[in-house]
Order: sequence, then C-alpha cells, then structure tokens
Amino acid sequence: MKLPPSKIGSLYRLDTTVYDYSISLLESVGMPGNIIRHSISVSEYVMEICAGIDNKCKIDRPLCIYGALFHDIGRSVSHGIDHGILGSEILMSLGFPDNYSLVCERHIGGGISKEEARSAGLPPRDYIPISLEEKLVCHIDNLVYGSKRVSIDHTLKRLRKKIPSVALERIKLLNSEMQQYM
Ligand SMILES: [Fe+2]
Repeated sequence: MKLPPSKIGSLYRLDTTVYDYSISLLESVGMPGNIIRHSISVSEYVMEICAGIDNKCKIDRPLCIYGALFHDIGRSVSHGIDHGILGSEILMSLGFPDNYSLVCERHIGGGISKEEARSAGLPPRDYIPISLEEKLVCHIDNLVYGSKRVSIDHTLKRLRKKIPSVALERIKLLNSEMQQYM
C-alpha cells in the first residue's frame, strides 16, 4: 500500500502542512528530486510499519516518520558515506532535536563501526543505530531502492562487492532483529 503524504496526518494526527513544509525544506536545501522521492517512500514505509506496532511498544512515531523523511538530507551536499554525518550537522544547524540528528548519522547500511569510520575518513566514533527509531529508519532504508520497495536479498546482492563483509553482516543482523516488527 502506498500512502500519499496527504494521508499521513490523518493516520498519526500529524499536521499535513508540517509534512508538506518538511518536503519544501528538503527542496530548499537543494536535495535532488529523486532523493526527495526516495525519502518520501522510506517515510511512508516506516509509517506503515509503525501502524502495525503494538501501542504498548514505546516508539516515537513522529521521530520515525520525520526521521525517515530527513534521513538523507546530507545528500544535498554529498552522496558519499559522509552524507549521514553531514546530514546530522545540517539538521543541527536547522535546530532539529539531537534524536533526529542521530537517526540521520546512524542510517548508513546497518551502521558504521568506529574502525570503519576511521578508515573512511569520518570523525572516529560508532555510527551504529541504537534506539528502535534509529534501527527502523536504517532498516527500512535498506528495503527501498530509489523509490521502489525491494527485498533485503536485493540490497545485500547490490552491496556485496561494494562494502566489507562485516558491514554486510550488520545489515543482515539488523534485518533479523527487525523481523518482529515487519
Ligand atoms: Fe542515505
């Protein structure tokens, strides 16, 4: 099921003008249209998963939905592995709360270890998703290629020759952990 942004507010009592404003914000920072469409797809997928999560489970749904919408904001300046941390800095400069920045910087693959960060030239610290919201955005991003939904096997196959096996294993592990919510 593909939900248009106009339906999001009614599902989560989010103000659709805020969602539309958020998309305008992505446009205003120079995010390419295809990345905006990708971000909307990730956000809509996250919203569907959130809808199926038991109300007893403590999960910050707006953080998931908007975190998904903004997770790739760093791609307005870089399409490299640094777009997570750059996006985190952009969100901080725009006044977003820290938890949004963390969703952004911890969404690459299944996360990046401190050692991998060091060898990639990123500020050396762990960028592994920790909170459920961070894990959900990270995982769903692995299930959306462009604006199309794909299987985890599709993503693993695509990344097999591009990233180290330890990073592939982390994607698999996150996939296993998130099965309970899918
Ligand atoms: Fe990304």
